[in-house]
Amino acid sequence: MRSLVAPALLGLILGCIAKAAVLPTLPQGEFPACDDVETEHMADFAVKHINSKNNHGYKYALNRIEKVKVLPRRPFGKIAFLELDLLETECHVSNPLPAENCTIRPQTQHAVEGDCDVKLLILDGAYKVLSSKCHSTPGSVEDIINVCPDCNPLSQLDDPKLKEAANSGLAKFNAENVNGSHYQLIELSRGFTSHMPLGTHVEFAIAATNCTRQQAQDPAEHCHVATDEHARNGFCKASVIQLPPVPVLGGEPIPPAEEITLDCALYDHQAGGSHFIEHFMYHLGKNIPSPGTGRRVLDLIHSHNDTHASHESHSAEAPAVAAAKPVVKRAVEAVPLPALLLQLCPGRIRHFKI
Ligand SMILES: *[C@@H]1O[C@H](CO)[C@@H](O)[C@H](O)[C@H]1NC(C)=O
Ligand SMILES: *[C@@H]1O[C@H](CO)[C@@H](O)[C@H](O)[C@H]1NC(C)=O
Ligand SMILES: *[C@@H]1O[C@H](CO)[C@@H](O)[C@H](O)[C@H]1NC(C)=O
Ligand SMILES: *[C@@H]1O[C@H](CO)[C@@H](O)[C@H](O)[C@H]1NC(C)=O
Repeated sequence: MRSLVAPALLGLILGCIAKAAVLPTLPQGEFPACDDVETEHMADFAVKHINSKNNHGYKYALNRIEKVKVLPRRPFGKIAFLELDLLETECHVSNPLPAENCTIRPQTQHAVEGDCDVKLLILDGAYKVLSSKCHSTPGSVEDIINVCPDCNPLSQLDDPKLKEAANSGLAKFNAENVNGSHYQLIELSRGFTSHMPLGTHVEFAIAATNCTRQQAQDPAEHCHVATDEHARNGFCKASVIQLPPVPVLGGEPIPPAEEITLDCALYDHQAGGSHFIEHFMYHLGKNIPSPGTGRRVLDLIHSHNDTHASHESHSAEAPAVAAAKPVVKRAVEAVPLPALLLQLCPGRIRHFKI
């Protein structure tokens, strides 16, 4: 048993020394443990902030704290630098459910990882995110095939089949929403195609327009996403299955058909979707390309930079829960730094490795 552990540890040591070597100001600052309670509080605060700034795709949850470094800040306070691994949840950003209550997207559905670098100010017992920079990438196709040979990897978001399936799903939603407003497609969030059965499966966000169903059928009407008290948004999952033509003995075969299954949730606009709609309107006006262009996932790229004092009032602040307890200093003088880092980071994996 011991002989198995030793090479693994050695690998870890070498890995960490290699990582430590790229830190520019190595001997300075404090290196609390990645799984330290205070580090976790900082990471949780940062993830909340990242989710609150994310206007595309899904909410993310913390999977692992990769690195943490805390430097003194003049004249007061401290600055923490965090490197976080996140995982996509199944909650769309417009879903009012807090990310903590959302299911992590399993690997069988092609999991997506978010890598974030966060700079956090610790001042007067409160945290404030100064900047955050994230990037998301889907897990490798080989990994999905290993976990589940029959699972389907995500398609490119600009695959016309996905758009077509989302439009079919939306048409079904509008046709069934007899007395409600006419809804519009806001975002195609993810999708894939399957062979058995032959079909396309998509998830997409929708919003109510200021048109009724009847008005929407009139080409002269201009239907716009409602932003007033009629504003409403939702999120749908649709599967469009191609049914093969059915041969009929001695007669015309029954032509191929589509079978659409649809599952939509409408969210109370007050509960949290409003910033999503506002952001959509903003993008619409500026013709900003989608963060999904040419990719399989909507990138969590929307970076946030709040180093300017004028922005400070907009940034969420929260009491640093463990602020009464100073950041742990573990005999920094006595232990050589790479060995110290080895014990303390990266932290535990909360869900699965991707
Ligand atoms: C989220 O989960 C917590 C803890 O399980 C629960 O107390 C709370 O009611 C949930 N919130 C929602 C909105 O479901
Ligand atoms: C739509 O409105 C009509 C007339 O008010 C009503 O009879 C019908 O039940 C409504 N349909 C639905 C699906 O709510
Ligand atoms: C919807 O809003 C747009 C822009 O405000 C307006 O031009 C259009 O007439 C409205 N449509 C209806 C049916 O009210
Ligand atoms: C944030 O903005 C400041 C000032 O414009 C710049 O120096 C800094 O590099 C930016 N940080 C990030 C993470 O973009």
